[in-house]
Amino acid sequence: MLDMLLLLFALATPSRQSPLPEQAQIGRADAFTRPLSFTTNGTFQVSIFEDLHFGENAWDTWGPQQDINSVKVINKVLDRESPGLVVLNGDLITGENTFLENSTLYVDQIVQPLVQRGLTWASTYGNHDHSFNISGEGILARERRWPNARTRSMVPGRAAGVSNYYLPVYAAGCSDELQCSPELLLWFFDSRGGFYFQERHPDGSQVGQPDWVDAGVVDWFRQTSQRFVARSGRTIPSLAFVHIPTEASQALQTEHGQQASVDRHRQPGINDDYPVAQQAQGWCADGRNDGSCGYGGQDVPFMQAIASTPGLMAVFSGHDHGATWCYRWDRLVPGMTVAGNGVNLCFGQHSGYGGYGNWIRGSRQVRLDLRSLRAERWEAETWIRLESGDVVGDVVLNGTYGRDWYPATPNTMTYCPTCNYTVVTPGPGSFQRKMSPVRRRL
Ligand SMILES: *[C@@H]1O[C@H](CO)[C@@H](O)[C@H](O)[C@H]1NC(C)=O
Ligand SMILES: *[C@@H]1O[C@H](CO)[C@@H](O)[C@H](O)[C@H]1NC(C)=O
Ligand SMILES: *[C@@H]1O[C@H](CO)[C@@H](O)[C@H](O)[C@H]1NC(C)=O
Ligand SMILES: *[C@@H]1O[C@H](CO)[C@@H](O)[C@H](O)[C@H]1NC(C)=O
Ligand SMILES: *[C@@H]1O[C@H](CO)[C@@H](O)[C@H](O)[C@H]1NC(C)=O
Repeated sequence: MLDMLLLLFALATPSRQSPLPEQAQIGRADAFTRPLSFTTNGTFQVSIFEDLHFGENAWDTWGPQQDINSVKVINKVLDRESPGLVVLNGDLITGENTFLENSTLYVDQIVQPLVQRGLTWASTYGNHDHSFNISGEGILARERRWPNARTRSMVPGRAAGVSNYYLPVYAAGCSDELQCSPELLLWFFDSRGGFYFQERHPDGSQVGQPDWVDAGVVDWFRQTSQRFVARSGRTIPSLAFVHIPTEASQALQTEHGQQASVDRHRQPGINDDYPVAQQAQGWCADGRNDGSCGYGGQDVPFMQAIASTPGLMAVFSGHDHGATWCYRWDRLVPGMTVAGNGVNLCFGQHSGYGGYGNWIRGSRQVRLDLRSLRAERWEAETWIRLESGDVVGDVVLNGTYGRDWYPATPNTMTYCPTCNYTVVTPGPGSFQRKMSPVRRRL
């Protein structure tokens, strides 16, 4: 009965049309041509939304209802948080489910709450953003119709993927970015995966795209970050965002088993996805992806880079909806070839009503303090703001993270209040909604 009332209520709510980008930000568009900066208070906050999975089953009533509820999640979080940047950390859209002619229009629904608040955002693309009927290039073009979008593509070539770029963050009051040196760098990577846009093998099957950060992108990252060091004469602290986590996250998570590796008081968070799916999953070392290999190791160059970049405080991933912890990677985990240097590997919170799993939706927040960074205390505070308004997993990623005690995160489930999943009609793509909360998704 309650479901029914909520459904009727949702149907009675007029659908809000997105204004045209040109109309939306008159008088404020200049705010988005300026570089990102710390507040006058000396803080900079990022709100990460990930795995929004818009566009599922447009032909069943529950598909559009999921997206309406996902927009509500974004609004509920942003009613309580005031970020200087929103990061959309991959799987914005479930591309296997969308139609060629309008697959990227979901971008407008996703960013509507950000545009209404005058917020600026930056995306990485996930495996579901690369599919037969949708491409990273197409999503980027749609995003960039909005002046608020800071998503870029800095590494050319088919192998690079799309969302590889950086954004500098300056101190408040730096009106000329050529005069000031950045206080913080934000790096965005495309871990690719999914399928190449509109490509088929001779037998008609879709062409799988490798699911790791390409070695050419890693070279670009190393060279570009070294250039920043050379130009500014100092290490510039940084954060990185990439949709699919690396093998290091899985190795840390499985080292001593599910209960003992990720400690509910030392690395608070949900730890239901066990083991987490990682980059290079489903590929062989020789480049085959015919289902014969579990993990091909092609993310080693990226892991080497993140474990040897001074000042890189944390890498934030999504992809594994049932993992929400941060782990300080500060050693060689047995069986691995790359040793961590203290970089934190964090998952966020599943933000959308699309995609597998019913863990409560939310958004990871990250706050940096310029005074700490300038004192070379490269640490960040991070917490998860849930759609309920509650905060969980509030931790400081500092030198003792992993030893400090924090309250455990409750493992709460929520269900789409207006979605009637009785009828699930198979669609054009290969996608089927996964009703089981912990089904793996490749
Ligand atoms: C859900 O959909 C089914 C099939 O159309 C219908 O029989 C059922 O009454 C619906 N449930 C609710 C709560 O609306
Ligand atoms: C500035 O910092 C103070 C103290 O931390 C805080 O109470 C206040 O809300 C902050 N103001 C802004 C605009 O962030
Ligand atoms: C895309 O087209 C399909 C089929 O006509 C429709 O059901 C769906 O609502 C459309 N999606 C958007 C975002 O316009
Ligand atoms: C790290 O932060 C925690 C929580 O604020 C604090 O208890 C601990 O002393 C800090 N460690 C360092 C090295 O600053
Ligand atoms: C791609 O979009 C076309 C045009 O709407 C549709 O006919 C087709 O079924 C879709 N294909 C897949 C694999 O989703």
